[in-house]
Amino acid sequence: MAKLDAGRERAQAIEALEAQAKAHYDAGRDAEAADAYERAGRLLERHAVSSASRKIEQARKAKALKFLEYAKALRAGDVPKPETTPSGEVTAPSGAPGERRARGKGKRDKDDDEIHQAVTGLLHHASIGWDQIGGLEETKREIKYALGVSVAKKPEGLALASWRNVLFYGPPGTGKTLLAAATSRALKTSEREQATFFNVKVSSIMSKYFGESTKILSELYGTARDMSPAVIFLDEFESLCGSRNEGDTGTERRILSTILSELDGLAEKGRDDLYVLTIAATNRPWDLDPAVLSRFDKKVLIPLPDATTRRAILDIHLGKKGFVVEADLEDVVDLTDGLSGRELESLVKEVTNRMVADENRELPDLVDRGLDHVRDYRVRVRPLALDDFERARRHVHPVTSAADVERYTAWRDAAEA
Ligand SMILES: Nc1ncnc2c1ncn2[C@@H]1O[C@H](COP(=O)(O)OP(=O)(O)OP(=O)(O)O)[C@@H](O)[C@H]1O
Ligand SMILES: [Mg+2]
Repeated sequence: MAKLDAGRERAQAIEALEAQAKAHYDAGRDAEAADAYERAGRLLERHAVSSASRKIEQARKAKALKFLEYAKALRAGDVPKPETTPSGEVTAPSGAPGERRARGKGKRDKDDDEIHQAVTGLLHHASIGWDQIGGLEETKREIKYALGVSVAKKPEGLALASWRNVLFYGPPGTGKTLLAAATSRALKTSEREQATFFNVKVSSIMSKYFGESTKILSELYGTARDMSPAVIFLDEFESLCGSRNEGDTGTERRILSTILSELDGLAEKGRDDLYVLTIAATNRPWDLDPAVLSRFDKKVLIPLPDATTRRAILDIHLGKKGFVVEADLEDVVDLTDGLSGRELESLVKEVTNRMVADENRELPDLVDRGLDHVRDYRVRVRPLALDDFERARRHVHPVTSAADVERYTAWRDAAEA
C-alpha cells in the first residue's frame, strides 16, 4: 500500500514539474524551464524502474529522455517548443533536440522509432556510490583521477589525453558492473545532474536486434553525444565481437567497424564540450578482437577479492542487513578465500537466512493456525557465530577456479608486455 502511494506521489510530482517547466518555458524563463525538465526527467527515470510492465517502463524511459533532452537544448539556447498531447504524452516537434539525427531524412520511419525506443530502454539511473563497493581502492582512485583529468580545463595548447574507453575484465561477480554504475554517478555536473548512463547488455542487443545492431550502436552513441556527459556501459562485451571461430558474416564485420569508429570517437573530434566515456566489461578478454582491444586506453583487471577486500565486502553486506556478528571477522575472512564479491553476498544471505530459520522453527505451524497468530509474532534473531558461517560456507560454491585466476593474470601480463 505504502509503495503504491509512493508511486502515485512520484507521478504527481513529475506532472507538477512538467507543468512548471512548461509555464517557465512559455514565460521565456529558459533556465528555470531547463531545471524543471531536468528534475522531471531524473524523477521519471527512477519512476520507470518500478513500472508494472516492460512496456510502461520503456514509455516512461523514452519520456524521461525527452525531458532531459529538452533541458539540455534549453541550456544550450537551442530552443525547441515542447508540446504535450491531450493524453499527457510529450511529443517531439520536428527540430526538437532528440530529432537532430533524423533530420534531413524527412520523417523518421517506424523502424527508426523502434531503434530509438530500444536505445531509450537502455537509459539507467545509477544509484551506486563508491562507498558501496568494498576494496578496489586503487581502481577507484584511478577512475576518479581519469574523470577529473577528462573534465577539468587543461592549460592552453596542452594535449592531455583523457580516458575515453576503459575495459574492465576479470572473473564473474567481482564488482565490474558496480564500478561502472558508480563512475556514472560520480560524473556529476551539478548537485542534481549526473551523467547519463546507458546500461547495455551486449548479448541481448545482439540476439534481439542482430540485423539492426549497427543501427542501435550508432543511435546509442548519437544519443549519448546529445546527452553529454554520458557513460556507455557495454556489459558482456565479448558477445559483440562474435565467436571468431564461426567465421565472420557481413553483419558481424559491419558491427565491428561500427564499434571501432565509435571507440575512435571520430564524431567527437575537436569537440571539447562532449564527453562520452565507454566502459566495457568482460569475463573473456581473450575473445576480443585485437583491433577492438587496441582502442582501449585503459584495461583494468578486477580480480577476486584479497583478504582486505573480502573484509570490506563482508562489512558492507553484513552492515546493510543490520545483523550482529559475534565472531572474529578475520576468521570469517579466512573461510572465504576464493569467493567473489557476489559469492560473499550469497554467503551473507545464506548465513542470515539459516539463523533466522533456526530461531523461528514454529513459524510454519503458526501460519497453519491463521494469520492472526502470525501478526502478533515477533521474529527472533541472535548474533551470528563463526559456526554459522562455516555451515553456510559449505553451500556456497565458487565459480572461479585457481586455473581461471591464473589465466586472467597471464592475459594481463601479456597485454601489458
Ligand atoms: N567490491 C564489492 N563490494 C561490494 N559488493 C560487491 C563487490 N563485488 C561484488 N559485489 C556484490 O556482488 C554483486 C555482483 O557484482 P557485479 O555485478 O559488479 O559483478 P560483475 O563483476 O559485474 O560480474 P559479472 O562479470 O558476472 O557481470 C553486486 O551486486 C554486489 O552485491
Ligand atoms: Mg557485470
